[in-house]
Amino acid sequence: MPPPDSFTSDTFGFNDGREAGLRDYIFSRADVETTLRNNPQAIIDAISAYTSQKGMITLGRVKINKCTDLLARLDPSPKTLVELGCYVGMSALAWGDALKKLNATTTSDQSQIPSQIPSGGASPCKVFTTELHKTFASIARDLIALAGLDDTVTVLEGPAKESLRALKATGQIDTVDVMFFDHWKDAYLPDLQACEDLGIFRKGSLILADNTDIPGTPDFNRYLEDSSTGQNKGRSGYQYHVERHETEAEMGLPMSSACPEKKNVKNWWEVSNYRNSGSPGSQFSI
Ligand SMILES: C[S@@+](CC[C@H](N)C(=O)[O-])C[C@H]1O[C@@H](n2cnc3c(N)ncnc32)[C@H](O)[C@@H]1O
Repeated sequence: MPPPDSFTSDTFGFNDGREAGLRDYIFSRADVETTLRNNPQAIIDAISAYTSQKGMITLGRVKINKCTDLLARLDPSPKTLVELGCYVGMSALAWGDALKKLNATTTSDQSQIPSQIPSGGASPCKVFTTELHKTFASIARDLIALAGLDDTVTVLEGPAKESLRALKATGQIDTVDVMFFDHWKDAYLPDLQACEDLGIFRKGSLILADNTDIPGTPDFNRYLEDSSTGQNKGRSGYQYHVERHETEAEMGLPMSSACPEKKNVKNWWEVSNYRNSGSPGSQFSI
C-alpha cells in the first residue's frame, strides 16, 4: 500500500528500485570496509547523501538529531524502543546507535539490563523495527549488520500490529521506553490503541510520531490531545502529555502549497512528542 495522501511531489518515489539502488550504492562504495563498517553515523551520512538526491521517504538528519536529542533527555536512558515503519532502516540505525551510546556507561551494571534482553546478548538495549515489505526489511538488515548494530536492532517483517502482539506474547518486550510512529498514517491511531490494549506503554513512555501534519494524522492527534486536556482518557484510561516540535526539512520538500496556514514556511517537518503520563484509569498528569 503506498502512502495514502502524502508525498505529492514528483521528486518522491517509493518501491520503484530506489531502495535496492541504495543498497548497491552503499555496498559498492570504495570505503565500505574502511569507513562504513561498524560506523553507524558514517552509514547514516552515506544514506542521506543518496536518499536526499533520490527523494526517498527516510528521515533526514534534522529530524534524527531532533529525536536523538529528545532521547538523550530521558532519565533513565531508554533501553527499549519500538519503531513502526522501518523502510530501509535509516531511522532504526540512528535509534540503535543512540541507545547504545546512551547506555554505554551502564553496561557493567547488570541491574540496569532489562530482563527481556537475552542473557547471552552483549547489548543492554533493544530496538525493534517493523516493516511490511520483505525487500525493504532485507535492505534494512544488511545496513544494520554493516553498522554493527545487529546485536541491538531487530527488523520484524509484517504488519506492525502483528509484530507488536508477537513481541508482547513472546516476552521480548513488556513495556517500552520509546515508541516511534513512522508508518502509514491511517495506521497510527489503530496501532496506538493496539499498544494501549497490549499494555505496552508505561507511565513516562515517550511516543514520537513523524508527519502528523499536512494532512497528517488528525484522528491520532485528536485522540492524544483530547486525552491531554482531560476531555477523553482514551479507551484504556491513559492521559498523555503532548508537545509539538517543528523542524526544517533538509530535503527541500515544498510543503507550503499543501498547507495554506504554513505558507510562509517553505520547508518544515514536524515531530510530535506524546509522553504517556498516566496508567490505565489513573488521573495522573505531569
Ligand atoms: C516513511 S517510511 C519509514 C521511514 C523510516 N522510519 C526511516 O526514517 O528511514 C514508512 C514505512 O512503513 C512501512 N509500513 C507501512 N505500513 C506499515 C504497517 N502497518 N506495518 C509495518 N510497516 C508499515 C512502509 O512499507 C514504509 O517502508
